[in-house]
Amino acid sequence: MAPTRTGIIGHPVAHSLSPLIHQHWAAQLGLDCAYHLLDTPKSALREQVAALRAQPWRGANVTVPYKQAVLPLLDAIDPQAARIGAVNTILREEGRLTGFNTDAAGFLENLQQSAPQPLANYLAQVVILGAGGAARAVAFALHDAGARHITCINRSPEPAQALAQAIGHGSAPWAQRESALASATLLVNTTSLGMRGKPALPLDLSLLPVTALVHDIVYTPLITPLLGAAQARGNPIVDGLGMLLYQAQAAFAHWHSVTPPVTAALRTALIEAMA
Ligand code: ATR
Repeated sequence: MAPTRTGIIGHPVAHSLSPLIHQHWAAQLGLDCAYHLLDTPKSALREQVAALRAQPWRGANVTVPYKQAVLPLLDAIDPQAARIGAVNTILREEGRLTGFNTDAAGFLENLQQSAPQPLANYLAQVVILGAGGAARAVAFALHDAGARHITCINRSPEPAQALAQAIGHGSAPWAQRESALASATLLVNTTSLGMRGKPALPLDLSLLPVTALVHDIVYTPLITPLLGAAQARGNPIVDGLGMLLYQAQAAFAHWHSVTPPVTAALRTALIEAMA
C-alpha cells in the first residue's frame, strides 16, 4: 500500500520545519506516511488543491500566502476556521476536502503548556499586536478561552477594528501601543517584526506590569528582541516554537487519528535545524 501522503502548500516552503516535525512523529509512531513540500505559485493553487482530492492524499497544511485564498477552493470549512477566516489544515475524506484552523488551538495549547501559572491568571487584560491571519487565530482562541478584555492594535487601524468587532472586544491606535500595556496581563506579538531579517518591534515595555506574560509567535530567532527585553525586566515569556509544534500536533491528529507527543527532544531537533 502507498504511504499516507500529506504535505504543505505555500510559497515559498523550502525552509518549512513541518516536514521534520511530521516525519519525526511518523517514525516515532511507526506510521507509513510521507510529508511533501508543495511549493505552489499563485497561478497553480487551484490545481494543487484539486490534486489533493485524489488518493493517496490525506490532506495538507496551508501556509503563507494562501491561508485565506484557499477557503473558496475547499468543499467544507470547519466553523472555527470560518470564523477566523483562515485555513492551515486540509483533511481529505472520501474525496471531499475540509478546511480547519489548528493555529488557534495550537496557540492556546502552547500557552497553557508553557505559562508559569494557569492561563486563566493571564486573561484579564490582553493586548494583541498585529491583525493579520495569525492575529485572528490568536484573538478568537483567547476570546473563546475566556479573556475578559482584549485590545487589538495594528499599524493599519482597519484590520484591528474589524478583528475587535468580530470578537466583541476593543481596539486602540498603533500610537497608543505603549500606554495600552499599563494594565496588561498578557501581551502577544503576532506581527512579523522581530523575525530574522526584519526590524525589531518598536515597543517600550516601561509601563508593562512585570507579572504580565509576554508571548511572541515569531520563532526565528527563538528569543526575539521583544522577548529579550521582556525577560531582562523580569516578565515571564513564551517563545513561538511551541505554537508551531502544537498546530502541527492538531493537524497530525486530524490526518492520522492519533495525537503525537510534543517532546523536549523534538523541540531540540527543531532548534538545531533552525541554527
Ligand atoms: P500573518 O497572516 O502571518 O499574520 P500578515 O497577514 O502579513 O501575516 O500580517 C502581518 C502583520 O504584521 C500585520 O498586522 C502587519 O501590519 P499591517 O496590517 O499594518 O500591515 C504587521 N506588520 C508588518 N510589518 C510591520 C511594520 N513594519 N510595522 C508594524 N506592523 C507591521
